Amino acid sequence: MADLQQKRIVLGVTGGIAAYKAAELLRLLIKDGADVQVVMTQAACGFITPATMQALSGKPVYTDMWDARAPDNMAHISLTRAADMIVVAPASADFLAKLAQGFADDLLSTLCLARSRGGCRLAVAPAMNREMWGNPATQRNVAQLARDGISILGPASGAQACGEVGAGRMLEASEIHAELCALVEPRLFDGTRILITAGPTFEPIDAVRGITNRSSGKMGYAIARAALAAGAEVTLISGPTALDPPAAACIERVETAAEMYSAVQKHVERADIFISVAAVADYRVDAPRKNKIKKSEDTLTLKLLPNPDILSWVAARPRPPFCVGFAAETDNLVQYAEEKRRRKKIPLLVANLAHEALGADDNELTLLDDDGIHVLPRAAKTALARSLIAYIAARYRATQKS
Ligand code: C5P
Repeated sequence: MADLQQKRIVLGVTGGIAAYKAAELLRLLIKDGADVQVVMTQAACGFITPATMQALSGKPVYTDMWDARAPDNMAHISLTRAADMIVVAPASADFLAKLAQGFADDLLSTLCLARSRGGCRLAVAPAMNREMWGNPATQRNVAQLARDGISILGPASGAQACGEVGAGRMLEASEIHAELCALVEPRLFDGTRILITAGPTFEPIDAVRGITNRSSGKMGYAIARAALAAGAEVTLISGPTALDPPAAACIERVETAAEMYSAVQKHVERADIFISVAAVADYRVDAPRKNKIKKSEDTLTLKLLPNPDILSWVAARPRPPFCVGFAAETDNLVQYAEEKRRRKKIPLLVANLAHEALGADDNELTLLDDDGIHVLPRAAKTALARSLIAYIAARYRATQKS
């Protein structure tokens, strides 16, 4: 089932250049099977037309408090009573200020104030110039909104429509969609501490060269996000990647396998679950050179020493956390993966085919445990991560009972 299928969502759009991204967000929500009612402020209509949003949602758009279509003329009540969630994207600085103060001077602000706080979540995706975002007034308002239980999605940093560069860009539609999926996720891991390794390690040969594994870190980061969404306290130990880490995780950046090993040793004591997604280099160079080795016609021989197997070490501890390993294989997937699971003495191993998984945005996972084989069919890594987290939660809970 799609994440937001049958969810009733009010999509609020306020005035800002980023309003064009709201059309893409609406398309993603509709594709998921959500029932979306769009509400736009007058300022939003200056940036994108209600006709576009009507065509994409298949429903007339509300823009006015006094819209006679609401049977009882109380659109601010009727639109939210059945809603599971209101998302305002983009949310302007002015709109955040209104929300923080409880103003109700147009349809969107009024229905936000009138929503049932028990049954209808409110999420906002701020979008504004970097100075407006950094202004203490905006920061005060955002802190207040967070205290009021409103989810703040982003903003991101980068080039802005005004030509300046900094924080205040609205998240991309796909990122907002992922955050909304996470918001409706069941809190399977409230109070659980999960330690995750992700990405490759890099073993230096000299000052500029090194040995590494092909790993983007996408799967590990997606698992960290899914674990956070499920309520876990997440520590993410990451080798070098080009990805933005999830803001709510405690992140430790490392380069070599030895550094990853020490970071794991430091954090493992507190972990209830250890998920070892990292593609750890099996060997390191003996005595890497400080300076660059000069090129010559001679053969260069490197002496490689085996790295510690971090996962095996964790699994062999006296009271180990629930351990989940990963295996990327090129052939004989199930046989090699099961051998690995037994050798490393771990309850659950997640196997995938290297040529399908590396760097890709989607994947297929084969889970091996004492009960046999369970396949998570091809899907986006973000969706697979959520399914995997749900599976781990069930297995982990079973071990707690026994
Ligand atoms: O490299 P290998 O296929 O043995 O990796 C299987 C699992 O072991 C992965 O979960 C990986 O993160 C972990 N591993 C480790 N330390 C190593 C090698 C692998 O923790 N030195």
